[in-house]
Amino acid sequence: MAAIVMDGNALRDEVVAGLATTIESLGSPKICLATVLVGDDGPSRRYVNSKHKKAAEAGMVSRHHELGQESTQEEVEAVVRELADDPSVHGILVQLPLPDGLDPEPVLDLVPAEKDVDGLTERSMGRLVRNRPGLVSCTPLGVMRLLEKYDVPTSGKRAVVIGRSTLVGLPLSLLLNRKGADATVTMAHSRTADMGAVVREADIVIGAAGQARMITADMVKPGAAVIDVGVSRTEAGIVGDVDYEPVAEVAGWITPMPGGTGPMTIACLLENTLTAAELQGVVERR
Ligand code: GUN
Repeated sequence: MAAIVMDGNALRDEVVAGLATTIESLGSPKICLATVLVGDDGPSRRYVNSKHKKAAEAGMVSRHHELGQESTQEEVEAVVRELADDPSVHGILVQLPLPDGLDPEPVLDLVPAEKDVDGLTERSMGRLVRNRPGLVSCTPLGVMRLLEKYDVPTSGKRAVVIGRSTLVGLPLSLLLNRKGADATVTMAHSRTADMGAVVREADIVIGAAGQARMITADMVKPGAAVIDVGVSRTEAGIVGDVDYEPVAEVAGWITPMPGGTGPMTIACLLENTLTAAELQGVVERR
């Protein structure tokens, strides 16, 4: 039986429409998302453009700062410092990866926790680990929203997260594990022995390794939910971690690529921006 396709575009549209209604009901305050793009990577530029387009649909304003490929660490940090100090900016997103030679860590640490719509600073990550309220990385949040929307059971289920990045794998493992979701989580990675056997145990498989089509049908337990977060640039174009067509014959649920987790990252970025504005006392939602 073919898997249920988890439509990230449809859920993103629902979330964005909900945000637009909420923001209008609040008297349309100027909630501002600022993005910083360094260098001339085409896919990164396209991601950032869609973030601005969807921000406008949600009734937010946005601002974009672009720095050249040859920018210095100091130049990038100066832009982020300025945005951090600007009270008219509520969310800051520094598009990653930065060009070679630039260190993202000190740049990210300049983002104040209440403007950290990417959830990547030490304070935001610390809050997630300590299970305190705070802003959480958008892609993991988007995956959780998809699982909820499609009623994928998580409690007591086995989840395998492949990839241990601070942007996706690590925070998503924590979200799946924490109270409410209650999955039993295995964190797998490039050094995991017998990946096939590990993945076959899972009711929920998250591909976040950036290894083109590494999750094949023989690795998937029949009926499992298979979520693709991987992005690999190949000669055949951008492909995910999941060997989609054969896996869709075995899985119970599957995310398409594109049109699965990518749009949900944007939806959750905008939700985080509204939350950031709340944290800064700009709006009061509840
Ligand atoms: N590059 C790819 N995905 C992301 C993301 O979610 N946030 C940032 N800042 N950069 C990215």
